Amino acid sequence: MPDVRVDEVAGSDVDTLCDVIDASRCAGRSADPVPATWEETRTALSAAIGATGGLLCRVDGEPAGGLVFDDTDSGLALHRVSVVPPFRPVEVVSALVCAAEEVAAGRSHDDVLLLSANQLEAAVEVCVARGYAELSSNGGALALGKALPVTLDTADADGTREVGRRLAKLTRAGDLVVLVGELGAGKTTLTQGIGAGLEVRGDVTSPTYVISRVHQPRGDGPFLLHVDAYRIGAGAELEDLDLDAFVEEAVTVVEWGEGVAETLADHRLVVRLSRGRGNEAGGTRRITVTPVGARWFGAGVRSALVGTALLGPALLGPGS
Ligand SMILES: Nc1ncnc2c1ncn2[C@@H]1O[C@H](COP(=O)(O)OP(=O)(O)O)[C@@H](O)[C@H]1O
Ligand SMILES: [Mg+2]
Repeated sequence: MPDVRVDEVAGSDVDTLCDVIDASRCAGRSADPVPATWEETRTALSAAIGATGGLLCRVDGEPAGGLVFDDTDSGLALHRVSVVPPFRPVEVVSALVCAAEEVAAGRSHDDVLLLSANQLEAAVEVCVARGYAELSSNGGALALGKALPVTLDTADADGTREVGRRLAKLTRAGDLVVLVGELGAGKTTLTQGIGAGLEVRGDVTSPTYVISRVHQPRGDGPFLLHVDAYRIGAGAELEDLDLDAFVEEAVTVVEWGEGVAETLADHRLVVRLSRGRGNEAGGTRRITVTPVGARWFGAGVRSALVGTALLGPALLGPGS
């Protein structure tokens, strides 16, 4: 296995990154679609890297690829994604994009953007596999975007309800939230928070014996459609519930929904809950929210969830 490492550039690495970008352009292995940048001077390129930073990927110590960041209002944009022959584009781009997402989270961005022309198909391939959705396509150039996943730790059931409340503020009618986690992980507890955030009527409880329950809104917001899919597949099928009529007007939350609820909407928030490590008896839970689909790009998922007074900075997960 080759040793692949990615570092943020500083000092003499800025020059190395410029060399990598030059070499990959000459070889037709740069994803950057803007023709003007091909004539960009070395001075302008290193100034751009100095201002907003970039990443350099080394394979077995050899410079193999890189990219330049641009902090925009729409998120962290990845420019000049480059791979030098003979290094394998998919391997290098994967390492770069993975590291770029960590940088984006560290800089408090909600979203990551990639603009790509056809020179480096691996860039598009890798990003699509990592959940980037197509935002627009203009001639040969493609804009891809991804809302970053968020990981939070909660200390108790109220903390998990607060996460639910914040999730609710992100949603509107037609949205789907898929809850994943073992029995007692906190799926119903989180749904209680969503119900509170949506200001719906009725107590949210485990619907295990009824499979689904509709909660009417107190105001003019959406319904909450709360589904427990635990028994789906064992006799009951999601289609039999005939939920489609409700889904458009509701925020639909499906416990045990992974692998069954995806047909209800092509975009969703997947929420994984698990008990905190080494703390089986205690009340901590790790909650990871993964936005799926272009719907969440620009929705501010990360900033809506991170930084609650209730959770406290010490309880926020890594990269938060
Ligand atoms: N941090 C926490 N988040 C959620 N629930 C917690 C937490 N700490 C303790 N609990 C308790 O764990 C149980 C979770 O149950 P529930 O939400 O019904 O799980 P599920 O629906 O995933 O089976 C509740 O009794 C809740 O009070
Ligand atoms: Mg439950």
